[in-house]
Formats: sequence, structure tokens, C-alpha cells
Amino acid sequence: MSNRRLFSLLFIMIMMISGQGCSNENPLRVSSPSGNIQVEVFTLGQGQAAYLVKHKGTLVLDTSMVGFDFLDAPMLQTGLNIINSSKSSFHEEWEMPWGEQRSVINQYNELIVSFREEKNLRREFNLVFRVYDDGLGFRFEFPRQEYMRKVYITEELTQFNLTADHTAWWLPGDWDISEHLYSVTRISEIDAISKRDHPNLAQTYIPVNAVLTPLTMKTDQGLYLSFHEAALIDYAGITLMPDKDDLSFRVNLVGSWRDYKVERTTPFHTPWRSLQIAETAGQLIESRLIVNLNEPNKLDDVSWIKPTKYVGIWWEMHLDKSTWGYAGGRHGATTENARRYIDFAAENNIGAVLIEGWNTGWENWIGTPEREGIFDFVTPYPDYDLEGVVAYARDKGVKIIMHHETSSDVRTYDRQLDTAYALIKHLGINHVKTGYVGTIIPEGEYHHNQWMVNHYQRVIETAARHKVGVNSHETIMATGLRRTYPNIMASENLRGQEFNAWATDGGNPPEHLPTVAFTRMLAGPIDYTPGIFNIKLDPYRPDNQVNNTLANQLAIFVVIYGPLQMAADLPENYQSHPAFQFIRDVGVDWEQSKVLNGQIGEYVTIARQERGTSNWFLGSITNGQARSLTIKTDFLEPGKTYLATIYADAPDAHWKLNPTVYTITQREVTNKSELTLVLAPGGGTAISFHMQ
Ligand code: NOJ
Ligand code: CA
Repeated sequence: MSNRRLFSLLFIMIMMISGQGCSNENPLRVSSPSGNIQVEVFTLGQGQAAYLVKHKGTLVLDTSMVGFDFLDAPMLQTGLNIINSSKSSFHEEWEMPWGEQRSVINQYNELIVSFREEKNLRREFNLVFRVYDDGLGFRFEFPRQEYMRKVYITEELTQFNLTADHTAWWLPGDWDISEHLYSVTRISEIDAISKRDHPNLAQTYIPVNAVLTPLTMKTDQGLYLSFHEAALIDYAGITLMPDKDDLSFRVNLVGSWRDYKVERTTPFHTPWRSLQIAETAGQLIESRLIVNLNEPNKLDDVSWIKPTKYVGIWWEMHLDKSTWGYAGGRHGATTENARRYIDFAAENNIGAVLIEGWNTGWENWIGTPEREGIFDFVTPYPDYDLEGVVAYARDKGVKIIMHHETSSDVRTYDRQLDTAYALIKHLGINHVKTGYVGTIIPEGEYHHNQWMVNHYQRVIETAARHKVGVNSHETIMATGLRRTYPNIMASENLRGQEFNAWATDGGNPPEHLPTVAFTRMLAGPIDYTPGIFNIKLDPYRPDNQVNNTLANQLAIFVVIYGPLQMAADLPENYQSHPAFQFIRDVGVDWEQSKVLNGQIGEYVTIARQERGTSNWFLGSITNGQARSLTIKTDFLEPGKTYLATIYADAPDAHWKLNPTVYTITQREVTNKSELTLVLAPGGGTAISFHMQ
């Protein structure tokens, strides 16, 4: 059944339009199916290709130009004629093999505009717009042509010309990492350079004042916009450079040591440049624009890709209770410790155990240039019985999650890919967590450039051949490719829970995840690693803490979507807590998801129905402010009664002063009920609904 097209309709209306007459007085137009979003494409006085976007008749993007700059070839930006155009409509309903919802509607109107240079090289490209009710995507398609074979792009000149100085939630345009905190400023106040030299990052490179995507904004009129990209394959990741004077952004591709940023051969097309447009912040989260802009599943049978909750030998290293490396006598990944976690998982409805630090090479893994060639992805440390642990887990019905920390020594990982994944297959393992801490080896490559995008793709395709789902850390931001390669499961690409253990800047503030939900989460599933109950990290990290309440940590399981959801704390910290029942119960794969309320950086409440059951789960989180939120449970099935188990902050809870106090209450509800959620500062509420 997976990824089966249930219903597909294609109407094609071809309109051939001659080159003349598509100026800005007489543009080509395409609207979304409802007509709410309208795009116009035209040429300007010197033959520049341009577009604009309206929402309900109001400009969202004013005249914005596009073009390319090349090495050893003239710029492609002026002297262009529109030589052709066509329009079509598309509607299908497709099924996510796993995800936030089962069934997805993909409906858009498409406009393809063909441009050609009037003189000189007479180069050609198509500008393709797909306009949906929740936003739009456009990309450039370069057909094979005489004066454009091998192409070296030094910059993509795509512009997004905003109409006012909107409020923007942004991350600096780091070529090497997305593990920064969000800033919220007006567009004119974006200052990514001030985020350089962060003390807690093993790699960071912010060459210019640019921001990463998804870049979410709110207009003073209350409209929400989010810019990103979709289907990033064999191209560089984007960052967006603000122009403070005309309040526009221009693409700044991630580069390398080379004097160009993208190398391709015609025919090829770029990734989609995407813009989500929503009237409420919650609609941004419910939008499936990014996956819809990707191609359907390319892997045949994907029934082997299974979402799961997991625990792991992980947090204990971040707390420095044990170590990844063997030397020093505090090694975490021992056979005995692994069995302890496996037993715990088996007893508590948790499907998998991640084991980090099992393989040789950790003594010298971080930061040093000598780390090349040190990691070995097949050789366990002497106190870890790799085959024995996997067999022990199998007997208990638990899966092991393989771990590959590459330390960004990409050459070494590439060389070992086939043997490493053959071993995973031999062991019957279905998931791998990869990591890329540190600057890339070879030097001069960056985590988000074309060379690394191609490396990540090789890993995904190798993993798919071996039937392995991937959870990647420190890679490129997700761009919806999970639709095409459903073994791209989760990724980190944000400041995860780990920063609460050791960051020297106070960790992740309470507003972090209420911001992430409307920014990073629009890109795709997240491995945040929630569920820390020992909020003050006693006795391991006296100077750090998790800046949320315990109830908030439960709510994250629902709010922050990921198909591999970790109960991250040490097993001993769960033993005495009745609240752990929520983690035992909570689903990890969803039939449908509904955003009940939310404001960026302030609060958000999401309800999700578990696949294959009638259970619903709800999570609500807030920033540093206490608040009461009244919600309707009208998402529940009509005519049925559910037992709601409510895990809430106790009246005196507070993320800093009293983070671990909570209440558990139960009541019967129907789809006509209302609940008032009372959230402490930095707090949250988690609810399970079981049909009676
Ligand atoms: C950084 C990852 O984000 C973290 O989850 C992992 O434990 C370490 N690298 C070691 O691989
Ligand atoms: Ca990380």
C-alpha cells in the first residue's frame, strides 16, 4: 500500500505564447487551485526574468529577479525573451509510508516559462512554478544546449523581494552547522556575523551576513511566510542574504575551496525554491508543501522502514558519566551496559537501543587534524560483544541502532561505506545514526555544500540498498527527500537536547522549541532526543540544566515530530516516575496531525492520532511564560468516549525553580469536550486519549 497513488488527475492546457507581450504590463499568470495565491512571470526593460507573488490580491513578493552567474561564461540575467509557456493542473493523493499523516493531497497549478537569450549564446532555461494553496515552489530547468554543456555556477541570483520590514526568526547562514539558537528581529536588523565564534560548536563558518532556511517571517498584518528549498540533489544548499535597503533576500549558495559553487552538466534542474504562505502560524506546520515538491518514492518495497521509540547509551556520555572512548576505564558501550538498556527497552514498550562508542577510534575523534583514518565502522572495542549484544536484543524483541560518528572524516567513511553497511545488514540492524562533528576532511569542503550533499546522498542510497533507515546528525537541512527516499528518517540539524548537558551559554532557553516548531520543523522530521526527567542533571552537571519542566519534556514527544523518538534520559531516572507511562504509551507514527494553536516562539499545541490504533496524543509547550490554553477535543471520533490521561505541570512548577513537579489526572472526554491546559513557565502538558 505504501506510497500508492490513490487518485490521480492531470489536466493539461497548453498555451503557446510568443515571446513578445509578457512584460510586466502583460505578465503570464498562474494561481493556486483556490485562487488565493497568484504568481506573475514577466521580463523587465533590459530583458531580465522576473516574478512576483500575491496572496488574496496583496503583494507578498514584489518584482524579484532571477539569474545565474558562471565561471568562464557570461552572466545569465539580461537580454532574455520569453519564447514559450505552458500551464497545467495536477491533483493526486499519496500515502506516506510513515509520517505526520497517512494521506497527503498534492494539488497545484503549474506554469512553465521558457526563456532564451536574444543574442550571443542564445542560452535557454525554463522557470517552472508550482502554485499550491499553502505556498509555491519554483525551479530552473536547463535543457541540453550547444553553448551550455558543462556548467560551473558561481552564484544563483534568485531574489525574494519583500514588501515590508517583517519580523523574522533566523539562524545564521552557517556553511557548516545549524546548531545555533534562533534570533528574532526585523529583516533590516539581521546580523548573522554577530553569531560567529560560538564557543560550543566544533565547526562553524559564517562567511557573509546570510541566514539558513527554513526562514520564517510574520508580517505586521499577521501573514506567515516561510522560505526554504525542496528536493536538494547534486546542488549546493542555500542561504539567504538580506538587503537591508530594499528588504529583499538573494540566494547565496554554500561554496567550497573551488572558485564555483555548483558543477553540473546540462540537462539538469535546480532544487525547488519554496515559499509557504499561511494565515495562522499553525498552518505552516500542517502544510506538506516541502514533501509535495519532491518526487514519489523511488525505493520499491519500504515496509522494512519502521518508526520506533528508542533509548540508548548516549545521554550518559553527554553528562560525562561515561565516555565514548575505551581508554580511561569509564567506557559506556560495554556488553553489560548494553544489556541493561535492552532489558529496560523490552520492559517498557521501547523498540530500539542506540549504542554510541561501540567502535574503535574515539580516543582522538574531536577537532584534531590527525583524526583522519582513525574511525573504524566494523571493529568493536574489546569490552563490547557486537554480535552477542545484537543476539541478546533479538531475543528480547528489541532492535539495535547502529552508530557511525564520522568525525567529518568523510574520505574515510566513504571508503568504508560498503563494508560498514554490509556488516549492518549481516547483523539484521535496520537503523543507523550518522554524525559529522568537526570540520570536513578534506579541508575546504563544508557540511552544506554540493560535495557534501552528494556524499549524504551516497550514504542514503547505500543504506537503502541494505534496507537501513538513517538518522543523521550535522548533515544538510532536510528538504523533503524522505518522500523519494523514505529511509531518510530523522535528522538533527538543530540545537538538540545535548546542548542542555554541556553548553557553556546556558543551554536551550524555554522559547527554543516553540520557535523550532515553526521554523526547523517545516523542513522535516527531527531527532531532538526528549524525555529528560532529571532536569537538574544531578549529580553529573552541576552547572547545567534542562530549561523546561518535566511535563514539557513529555509534550515534546508529540510536538516535535520524528519517526525515531528517543527517551533520552538514563533508565534509572525513569524508574520511580509515574509520568514515564506517557513515554511507554505515546505513538511514534501518525494517521493524522492537527495543530490546535500556536504563536512562533511562544507556545504551540499539537494533537496526533496514532496509526493503526484509535489513540490520540496531545502535546502543548510554552516559552518562559505561564499560560492557560483552552482547547476543543473535536479531533476525536464523534460518538465515542475516550479516557484522557493528563500529565500537567503542578501549580508551583517552574522550569528553573521547580521543574519536576507534575500532576496526573484522568477524565472522560468526547469530541464535544473542552480542556483548559495550564502551563507553567517553561512548561507543558501531555495527554493520551484512549478510546473506551
Ligand atoms: C553529535 C551528535 O549530535 C550527538 O547526538 C552524538 O552523541 C555525538 N555527536 C557523538 O557522535
Ligand atoms: Ca549535534
